[in-house]
Amino acid sequence: MCANLCVTEMLFMLTRGISRASPLLRTMARPASSAPSWLQPPRSSTSEELLLLEHKYGAPIYRPVPVILDRGEGVFVWDVEGHQYYDFLSACSSLNHGHRHPHILAALHAQTSKLTQTSRAFHNSLLGLYEEYICTLFGYNKVLPANTGTEGGETACKLARSWAYRVKGVPKYRAKIIFAHGNFWGRTMAAFSSSSDVSSTGDFGPFMPGFQLIPYNDIPGLERALQDPHTAAFMVEPIQGDGGVVVPDPGYLIQIRQLCNKYNVLWIADEVQTGMGRTGRRLAVDHENVRPDILILGKSLSGGVYPVSAVLCDDHIMSTIRVGQYGSTFGGNPVACCVAMAALQVMEDEKLAENAAVMGQILHKGLSKLPKDIVKEVRGRGLLQGLVIRETKDWDAWKVCLRLRDNGLLAKNTSHGSVIRLAPPLIIKEHEMQECVDIIQRTIMSF
Ligand SMILES: Cc1ncc(COP(=O)(O)O)c(C=O)c1O
Repeated sequence: MCANLCVTEMLFMLTRGISRASPLLRTMARPASSAPSWLQPPRSSTSEELLLLEHKYGAPIYRPVPVILDRGEGVFVWDVEGHQYYDFLSACSSLNHGHRHPHILAALHAQTSKLTQTSRAFHNSLLGLYEEYICTLFGYNKVLPANTGTEGGETACKLARSWAYRVKGVPKYRAKIIFAHGNFWGRTMAAFSSSSDVSSTGDFGPFMPGFQLIPYNDIPGLERALQDPHTAAFMVEPIQGDGGVVVPDPGYLIQIRQLCNKYNVLWIADEVQTGMGRTGRRLAVDHENVRPDILILGKSLSGGVYPVSAVLCDDHIMSTIRVGQYGSTFGGNPVACCVAMAALQVMEDEKLAENAAVMGQILHKGLSKLPKDIVKEVRGRGLLQGLVIRETKDWDAWKVCLRLRDNGLLAKNTSHGSVIRLAPPLIIKEHEMQECVDIIQRTIMSF
């Protein structure tokens, strides 16, 4: 019953959105292709039909903004009816390079025409080159290649536990890992065991032991937790993304570094969302010139064309994990290595972090002029900004997202419902950013 209502509501909103399309919504013809029949134009399916298929056959695990995307290029995406939108979410920061970056696609095509997958049962001709490249760029001895951000977090926790037993001397199976309230690193059992979001995790206990939650941005609380000699690690996002774009006080990261040194605890920085230039520096920890013991990267590590993640650390930590203790059929495959190297090179060559810093200022300045009775707060760094909506019976973050869509810009509220995450591709140009600020201003003023 509820599911039916939801899909009816979504169809209604979808149709409204299309019929209200503003002049900004430009249309374009679909390209001809020699692709399989289900990819070839003219396609008969409308947004409504495709939405119904998803509803009928797909697991009900997301509540997306009702728009069916079909094509992307740079900072733009097009829906199946050909309406154009600015992509202001970048697939949750996994498209920092924009859609279909030509250098990354060239790497993908070159490698897929040669060798796609080997598993780690054999070596491949790209893995060592990639490992050297990423370790040198981020300044760590070793990398462990994986596929998703969650796997990266899971592996970082395993490394912390094995380091605690083998190096720190924590008695067997007493190791503790500390996390911050509001963290988000995925939805596996370990990620849920460390989550404060009981509305999502409530059905899945019993949870993993040895995880402790403390408030985010709370240095005295952190020091108390670190004093426990069984503490192996503190895992934290330098800016909480899904938790509602929460920026800690200046100096938070420096103090984490100092306290972890003082108590011989590993600092794990989850930069799956904030890394790869998103906040205006290559890594968000670079804003305070500190170096975590374990660094997790994902999302834009592949420029959004392939699932690639990585865990980086030095020998004294990585050497505590041995053959058979981590593995993944696809981790470190030649396509992943090739695509990740291309994405890292583009990030450096095109100065994505520098552009994020400049465009982020324009965005933040524009957003700060929005009326405070609707937008309570604007917070973030670089091109990871959050609009905190003061919700009333007339408007809320979801309604704002629907109207932004109608005006040609796609954004989405975080799981912390009243915050809209604004995270456009880092290749965005100044005139495009100005146009987007105008769309957001016009949309908010329309309430
Ligand atoms: C900070 C952070 N860590 C980890 C993850 C999980 O990444 P993935 O969805 O690739 O498993 C996310 C996903 O949003 C994230 O934001």
